[in-house]
Amino acid sequence: MAEFRIDRRDHVEIWTIDGEARRNSISMAMLAELERLLARAATDRALRCVVVIGAGDRAFCAGADLKERAGMSAEDVHRFHGGLRRALRAIEEAPQVFVAALNGAALGGGLELALACDLRVASDAAQLGLPEVALGIIPGGGGTQRLARLVGVARAKDLVLTARRASAAEALAMGLVSQLAPPPRLAEVALALAERVARNAPVSLRQAKRAIDGGFHLPLEEALELENRLYQDCLRTRDRLEALAAFAGKRPPVFTGD
Ligand code: COA
Repeated sequence: MAEFRIDRRDHVEIWTIDGEARRNSISMAMLAELERLLARAATDRALRCVVVIGAGDRAFCAGADLKERAGMSAEDVHRFHGGLRRALRAIEEAPQVFVAALNGAALGGGLELALACDLRVASDAAQLGLPEVALGIIPGGGGTQRLARLVGVARAKDLVLTARRASAAEALAMGLVSQLAPPPRLAEVALALAERVARNAPVSLRQAKRAIDGGFHLPLEEALELENRLYQDCLRTRDRLEALAAFAGKRPPVFTGD
């Protein structure tokens, strides 16, 4: 059974986690399919932006599939964990911009999935949390690191050490998500954001994502050097010339990613 529903709209894809009955939690099969989708996206030059959303309106993703986990061997858990870490890193390294649309609860690995994405929007009813310490573990899919980088150490410790759930409004206030929408409008809002992103030059999108992610924790001098290298790559593209021609011709640019 397919674990995701895929809808293509020109340069944008919507990946809907199709496991509403288990609140879109991450099973071994779902993770394997996510890795396949990411491998395919890595070579899809026409794809510029991906929206990840959960089926239904209860959960974006309720973390690891705890029912499956109960019957897993230590080796299986180890394999699952390695796959999750790999998949989330692949999202960060992907040439596309990833938008997480949090249509409901984003908990544990579900929030970690959202944290690996470039942009996050949420329904007013979403709840976000990393409850792992209440389950005898810690966030192991990058949650302690990516959350602290995104919202600061104090807020990350508050969420991780209490294991509590933040409301969508609180998540917006701390910059964990950038936009809220009423539940029935969330998919539309996320798609509009993705389409707005996808209008831009593909090489620029990729290089800007690398510059921000790669430079964030470098000393300023090195970060500026990184930005400069990535900027120079853009100067060599045909899309840069196309943007100048479009400006002169008072028309929208047609970018090809070349
Ligand atoms: N793994 C497997 N199944 C899960 C699940 C998970 N992480 N989360 C929910 N489910 C299942 C429930 O067991 C239930 O199955 P059932 O119908 O066979 O009993 C079904 O999804 C619906 O769950 P329910 O709690 O009734 O749904 P809800 O919409 O009221 O609440 C959540 C949704 C996500 C808020 C709630 O299910 C929850 O808190 N889940 C646990 C999240 C968690 O701790 N994840 C681990 C992080 S490390």
